[in-house]
Amino acid sequence: MERMPGRVLVVVPTYNERENLPAIVGRVRAAVPEAHVLVADDASPDGTGAVADELAAGDDHVHALHRPGKQGLGAAYIAGFRWGMAEGFDVLVEMDADGSHQPEELPKLLERLAGGADLVIGSRWVPGGEVVNWPASREFLSRGANVYARMMLGIPVRDATAGFRAYRAATLEKIGLDDVESQGYCFQVDLTLRTVRHGLRVAEVPIVFVERTAGVSKMSRGIMVEAFWRIMQWGLAGLPGRLRRSR
Ligand code: GDD
Ligand code: MN
Repeated sequence: MERMPGRVLVVVPTYNERENLPAIVGRVRAAVPEAHVLVADDASPDGTGAVADELAAGDDHVHALHRPGKQGLGAAYIAGFRWGMAEGFDVLVEMDADGSHQPEELPKLLERLAGGADLVIGSRWVPGGEVVNWPASREFLSRGANVYARMMLGIPVRDATAGFRAYRAATLEKIGLDDVESQGYCFQVDLTLRTVRHGLRVAEVPIVFVERTAGVSKMSRGIMVEAFWRIMQWGLAGLPGRLRRSR
């Protein structure tokens, strides 16, 4: 890569991803050899944690963080970010384990961060962005969630639920992680909103999101319900400020 934005840690949350983990870790190591990888596993019943340990034993750039049980994507990322910040990493990357986020596109995100952004989102819903192999129902859900979030929150982001992103450690320090309550996928919207409200620079770069071929999605009704209510709450809490600014 031309320009690295500092020491990079790629945090990969896992729950039952044993078939997918070796390939994704290998692809990250090949695509950005300087970067370290942290697998944040929630005691997956399928033994993903042991696979992570094996990968870590064979590569000093790979690490495993074991959590006692399934506590949600948001909680896993916060634990991973805290680990990385304590270890002195400058950039914290989010990436799914199932191959939907292509490690080969990571250099593009990191270059954009180095070029002057505080958060870079790998976006499906900007020109050039794409989703491969999603059923129409899932595309409708993602597009709908983004329209809902944009309207409720008034943020200029096309893919606020995206899970492929790069944060500066300084961004996470400024927005603060201690009072983040989001457990499921609304964690993504939560941190996007915090970044925007702190006046930090958010950039979206187009990515091609490829639906998984092994294992199953952990999306659930509970995750959707949590997102719906929390986004409504944040929207109402921010309304007085929005009205004041628009006068
Ligand atoms: N540790 C941990 N704990 N990992 C989890 C948990 C959890 O409770 N739930 C999910 N994961 C991991 C999965 O193992 C996978 O690596 C990643 O988080 C994403 O989960 P998927 O189940 O593959 O998500 P998806 O494909 O349905 O959703 C994608 O789109 C969402 C909406 O746009 C992801 O990119 C999400 O990040 C995104 O919000
Ligand atoms: Mn997935």
